[in-house]
Amino acid sequence: MSKNEEIIKELEKSLATFSQEKRFKNVGLVERNSDAVVVASGLSQSFIGEQVAFDNGSKGVILGLEEDFASIILLGEGTDITEGDKIRTTGKILSVVVEDKLIGRVISPLGTPLDGKPALKTGKIMPLEKIAPGVIEREPVNTPLKTGIKLVDAVIPIGRGQRELIIGDRGLGKTAIAIDAIINQKPTKESKLKPVICIYVPIGQKQSTVAQVIARLKEFEAMEYTIVVSACASDPAALQYLAPYAGIAVAEYFLEKGQDCLVVYDDLSKHAWAYRQISLVLRRPAGREAYPGDIFYLHSRLLERAVKLNEEHGGGSITALPIVETQANDISAYIPTNIISITDGQIYLESSLFNAGVRPAINVGNSVSRVGGAAQTSGIKSVSGKMRLDLAQYRELAVFAQFGSELDQTTLTQLERGKRITEILKQPQYSPLPESLEILSIWTVTNGYLDDIPVESIKKFETGFHKFVQRNHQDIIKALEDGEKPKEETIKKMIKAITEFKKTFNS
Ligand SMILES: Nc1ncnc2c1ncn2[C@@H]1O[C@H](COP(=O)(O)OP(=O)(O)O)[C@@H](O)[C@H]1O
Ligand SMILES: [Mg+2]
Repeated sequence: MSKNEEIIKELEKSLATFSQEKRFKNVGLVERNSDAVVVASGLSQSFIGEQVAFDNGSKGVILGLEEDFASIILLGEGTDITEGDKIRTTGKILSVVVEDKLIGRVISPLGTPLDGKPALKTGKIMPLEKIAPGVIEREPVNTPLKTGIKLVDAVIPIGRGQRELIIGDRGLGKTAIAIDAIINQKPTKESKLKPVICIYVPIGQKQSTVAQVIARLKEFEAMEYTIVVSACASDPAALQYLAPYAGIAVAEYFLEKGQDCLVVYDDLSKHAWAYRQISLVLRRPAGREAYPGDIFYLHSRLLERAVKLNEEHGGGSITALPIVETQANDISAYIPTNIISITDGQIYLESSLFNAGVRPAINVGNSVSRVGGAAQTSGIKSVSGKMRLDLAQYRELAVFAQFGSELDQTTLTQLERGKRITEILKQPQYSPLPESLEILSIWTVTNGYLDDIPVESIKKFETGFHKFVQRNHQDIIKALEDGEKPKEETIKKMIKAITEFKKTFNS
């Protein structure tokens, strides 16, 4: 080492200790505490996202820095913190401790167990705030994330590393889609895809609702690969605000190990409310719909952390399914438009469809997946293209046909076909399908094999046919599973199977 280098090393070292000392000595005073949001003065050496400690043991995190004041959100109740209390910075960024054993657990955004089991003693410290990977580390979405929902996998396909918004009014099945997607990640022996670790982040929901979802996940053995990071409606706004960051921090632990993750934020409307509440208490200027101006930046920073890394960087991925609740189908409100613009597509649920008995109540016309198509297998691609076309035609014709004018035979056939496709795409909750059966259903209807089955009997026919093929034609299932476009010979077998089944089917 040359003399110069030595001097530089020495200088760097003393600089580091100097700033360390300075930081630990950084003490401020509480100016006011309103609803667990504290404004403090004197913290000139602090940084955003830094943890702070109060004399009585309470903890907080720095949310914003102004010229003379720091705004801090308390991580607990903190009602006893008052003006004049001392506050110290810690030099530590807010983080959550993660290790493999966290799988199957329910935790708060700060890592506190909520399932009555002991806390993790060891693990990796994952920061809640992190700069998203850059383009050099990423690669385009190229692997499907199968939801097991026919309509989604065929028409609005999701790829690993994608951000797909689920949007719609309350009670239309947004959570249901996300939970089905989680249930469908259950590892199977046949699957050639890497297993997916799921992280479900309920934000601002009723505790009982969250408990029900967890019970369902347990029932379907999905907690074996799922972690729940929960901040309920009864929790302080600060925790609700932090929840999605904790969720993605947990996912990033698995990402670093090259694994694939799915994170569900349920939902970001309530996250925005929590942040608005904090900001209003801080008397920040309110912008559109009284949300603070930086809410867009907050959400984009969060969703930017969804990623598909290239092989050099481990090849892992984080797929994000943010959920947004609309009021009266209004997708042009502030938060919906924001999040639509920072995701790679949206699944749009509509009350008129839900009320007409269409479930999942997905409006195909307004839903889109901008990148997932690239990740679809050739198998499902080979049947979905035609269906998409048939569906679009059907929608146009259906509007036209309402006027009751005389319709020619071709139009009538198209209408009848459309009705049957719509029927096939209905799917009950908690019953995601493997790709082979998805292909089988869609192939059957788009090739006209259901044209002579009454619409009311389609669902019965479908379930019966699935069972029939599973029982008697495992070779078809095997062939459809390999992800390739079905071969001539497989198609011949499928035709034979459906002819056989039709003979036994009694609508
Ligand atoms: N595919 C489906 N089939 C039948 N019922 C469904 C389906 N999806 C959702 N539901 C029902 O609709 C209701 C609302 O669903 P939920 O997912 O809680 O809505 P949201 O999250 O949009 O408020 C629930 O009772 C749920 O069981
Ligand atoms: Mg919900």
